[in-house]
Amino acid sequence: MKRLIMLFFVTAGFAAAAPSPPGLIANVHARTTVSLNGTWHVIIDPYETGLQYRYYENRKPKDKQELVEYDFDASGTLNVPGDWNSQRESLLFYEGSVWYERSFSYHRDELARTFLYFGAANYQARVYLNGKAIGEHQGGFTPFNFEITNDVRDGDNFVVVEVNNARRGDSVPALNTDWWNYGGLTRDVAIVEVPATFIQDYFVQLAKGSQSEIAGWVKLNGATQPEQVTIEIPEANLAQRVTTDRDGYAEFKFAAKLQLWSLDNPKLYRVTLSGAGDRVEEQIGFRTIETRGTKILLNGKPIFLRGISMHEEAPFRGGRAFSPEDDAILLGWARELGCNFVRLAHYPYNEAMIRLADRMGILVWEEIPVYWDIDWKNAATLQFAEEQMGDLIARDHNRAAAIFWSIGNETPIAPARVEFMKQLVGYTRGLDSTRLVTAALNRPESPDANTRLLNDPLGEFLDVLGLNEYVGWYDGTIPSLDALQWKTAYEKPLIVSEFGAETPFGAHGSADARWTEEYQSSLYEHQIAMLRKIPSLAGMSPWVLMDFRSPRRPLPGVQDFYNRKGLISDRGQRKQAFYTLQKFYRELAAAPPN
Ligand code: GCU
Repeated sequence: MKRLIMLFFVTAGFAAAAPSPPGLIANVHARTTVSLNGTWHVIIDPYETGLQYRYYENRKPKDKQELVEYDFDASGTLNVPGDWNSQRESLLFYEGSVWYERSFSYHRDELARTFLYFGAANYQARVYLNGKAIGEHQGGFTPFNFEITNDVRDGDNFVVVEVNNARRGDSVPALNTDWWNYGGLTRDVAIVEVPATFIQDYFVQLAKGSQSEIAGWVKLNGATQPEQVTIEIPEANLAQRVTTDRDGYAEFKFAAKLQLWSLDNPKLYRVTLSGAGDRVEEQIGFRTIETRGTKILLNGKPIFLRGISMHEEAPFRGGRAFSPEDDAILLGWARELGCNFVRLAHYPYNEAMIRLADRMGILVWEEIPVYWDIDWKNAATLQFAEEQMGDLIARDHNRAAAIFWSIGNETPIAPARVEFMKQLVGYTRGLDSTRLVTAALNRPESPDANTRLLNDPLGEFLDVLGLNEYVGWYDGTIPSLDALQWKTAYEKPLIVSEFGAETPFGAHGSADARWTEEYQSSLYEHQIAMLRKIPSLAGMSPWVLMDFRSPRRPLPGVQDFYNRKGLISDRGQRKQAFYTLQKFYRELAAAPPN
């Protein structure tokens, strides 16, 4: 007999996470949607003329007198989702504005509310429907949606989106990155239909530090009075009813006997939330993640993270990855390597990737692109960073696989930066205190020739320290690894989030010859030997799974605008070091460090 418990909580302050920024609809793919993916007409607008010429009106000259200097229908097309750089040779290096247009016929449901949803658009997007400005968004890697209930027509409609990926000093990331600045509508675009009052977002996870209590919240959109919402987990015989406040918000906490999500058994439960005329179905895993001293504990047990870093770049075809097929290849390669962990560098990846990691039982480090040097003193830049973190957490806070929120990568040690990052740590924890906050640090001190000390002041505020070190590549040669001792100033788990060396696939030579597979493999052997000596080492994610495009890597015949630190080439060819790391991970899996 199903156990039904009536709970009348309004805003009890139990849950460990704050509601998502207003507006972002959770779990869009479980809603009623109309996809707008496919070919869109585009106008390339290097001088940003479109706004002045009102391209968003998508006008046709009404007679032979009228002057209209653009024509979407006669302009070329690009695929959506997809970046523009890898779709046309002429746009490979293009940074600037591109106007997208898509006409569609739509049948309005009078009772429904309608939203226009974007999985991501890099970097800045201005959205127009039927010639009217609907909204704008910045940040290239997180979802956004706008309500169009009163603007969408029954019948013919057209949407115009200006996307501009120009780099700016105040943006996140800023002017300099070691990855390709793929521009465009890089992920799904869809129309989402929901009831007048709908379940906008929810957080259903184990309470912090508990394996037997669920704590969370639900947020309705459109509520004008208290509403009843039921959270059901049929397989666990759980059905919980809560009553929201008049703004549609309620928190809950209740006992739950559940199989925990783990790497060997990535158990996902069907969870449904229903109420106020709406119903959403989810797949959620329940696990705990915490640190104790220098250990990371999954479900209360120490775990060693056998990881790899990657970029969201599509194997074989190149360009920004976006499809379940891309995701399956990348995580499949990580699995083949023997990984139980992936670092998704340096920006939020497509949602399907995290849901796949949930199903595969692979732990995930997610990161926002606070990368290298940014405008630390600029309040707007901090806001951009917080918005990206807020949207990332809003999208993935029900994913068991997601255990790390990383606030940045390789940022300089300076007071303004520490202040900025402290704010970001506080903001992130305020949104979700059930996961671990980290960052990739890369400025250790050298108290003596054979010692490196990681004592970055930011370390004090993190739960787990990430360390990027390139000893044997940017810093010395391979032999310098052998005598090196690493120390950290904090009694916290350390993840070596990057190390590596470059070689094109098929380049061979002696193990001391750079740009050869032998050198890369030898560096991995010596790195592994060095890292195993670090007492607080709790994991690693070498740089990098696959060769990826970078505008900073021109070396002809070797790099050709690819960073070649991949263990796999962009054509899927495994280099020697792939097997070196695979061998080590197999040993670790057979006898995990205690
Ligand atoms: C840096 C950085 C990466 C970069 C890598 C490299 O540490 O975090 O984004 O690609 O080093 O130089 O290859």
